[in-house]
Amino acid sequence: MDNLLIRGQHRLNGDVMISGAKNAVVAIIPAAILAKGVCIIDNLPRIEDVKNLEDTLTKLGAVCELIDERTLMVDSSNIKDYHATFDSVRKIRASYYLMGVLLSRFGKAEVALPGGCNFGSRPINLHLKGFRALGATVDEDEEAGIIRLSAEKLVGTNIFLDTASVGATINIMLAAVSAEGTTVIENAAKEPHIVDTANFLNMLGCKVKGAGTDVIRIQGVENIHGGEYMIIPDQIEAGTYMIASAICGGDVTVRNIIPKHMDSLSAKLREMGCQIVEGDDYIEVISSGELVATNVKTMVYPGFPTDLQPQMAAALCKAKGTSKLVETVWENRFQYVKELNKFGCKMNVEGTVATIEGIDEFTGTSVYATDLRAGAAMILAGLAAKGETRIGNTRFIDRGYEHIEEKLRSLGADIRRVPKQ
Ligand code: EPU
Repeated sequence: MDNLLIRGQHRLNGDVMISGAKNAVVAIIPAAILAKGVCIIDNLPRIEDVKNLEDTLTKLGAVCELIDERTLMVDSSNIKDYHATFDSVRKIRASYYLMGVLLSRFGKAEVALPGGCNFGSRPINLHLKGFRALGATVDEDEEAGIIRLSAEKLVGTNIFLDTASVGATINIMLAAVSAEGTTVIENAAKEPHIVDTANFLNMLGCKVKGAGTDVIRIQGVENIHGGEYMIIPDQIEAGTYMIASAICGGDVTVRNIIPKHMDSLSAKLREMGCQIVEGDDYIEVISSGELVATNVKTMVYPGFPTDLQPQMAAALCKAKGTSKLVETVWENRFQYVKELNKFGCKMNVEGTVATIEGIDEFTGTSVYATDLRAGAAMILAGLAAKGETRIGNTRFIDRGYEHIEEKLRSLGADIRRVPKQ
């Protein structure tokens, strides 16, 4: 596996184009299994998760073809297999969406999940509760890491989610589109990728109403056909480049985005001393690199996204004063702190609350990406640090960021991929 090598302290200037949203495309490609016809998916990010999904759908019997670098054709007409238990399925966290779509299409699903004993840290109990409520029987084979689902027929019902889970909301939607009658999901999550998945489903002839609010109504339909759809821009990738401009100092315009999706981050960056200029499909972040401390609490959308928490932590570590950062979504999302502190940062975690004392200058070091967004935080810290930083475990970063070194280099960063020493 390669390392990323960064020589820090370059100001960033220029424009960066944001790719299609990872967390939308990992739901929309599986959703194409529902269509008895051809789906054309545009604005496709070329990230590892997408490649694994193409591989997975092909193994299930779909025809997947890249029409060009950004456009995928999926023809699921001839899929016959509902056993998704091969290796490429285990490599994708979001393989859980295969449960909803295969159950919806075949009344049966057998799906492997990442790390058989890992259900505890990424629970799917709410997904399963939803499938049961729709009439499915669920067999959890924890030892094999496989979930088996079957239903004579799925019947619409009311489902109240105990937690506004993104994955459960989408998965129940995917199963319910072909159920008899109407399903109502209450306390549904409202993230942009939920709206995007609902829009895709509606384009295929499904009847999903209310996505983006906390009550979603799905009326089952018999005929789900193909169609053409453009994935929304990636809110988290956009946020990562906005924070890069803030932490390095510079003038970066993040293009091809939906500025509304960035409101919670834009508000925080303003509080930290950045100037934010918004246009129809872009945001410009102007920063002197001198940041001011603030407090951040992760929340479900439209609150501050947990997927930007580690990147924001890197910026707060360079902000003058004391900041508090509270994580309310994932209890294990502070695993990266030991790595970040190797730059000289002063971040101290107690439970779900981190206290950060800002420092003037980071010092380059060797660190690991402990997960995707933690990896992005290491890159941001390396870009701001004096001297050289080496980042290992880059496979995590490649799961969700397309051409990250090229994009950063085009803004003036000194970052390159080198073979592991
Ligand atoms: N939860 C349960 N039971 C469930 C499902 C979730 O208790 O059945 C809990 C989780 O433990 C967590 C909270 O509910 O505390 C939220 O989890 P959610 O289901 O919303 O997360 P997810 O669907 O598994 C998606 C994103 C994550 C992102 C979260 C929160 C995808 C593929 N993944 O995960 O993205 O952090 O929503 O917004 O959409 C990332 O991109 O780096 C990433 C981890």
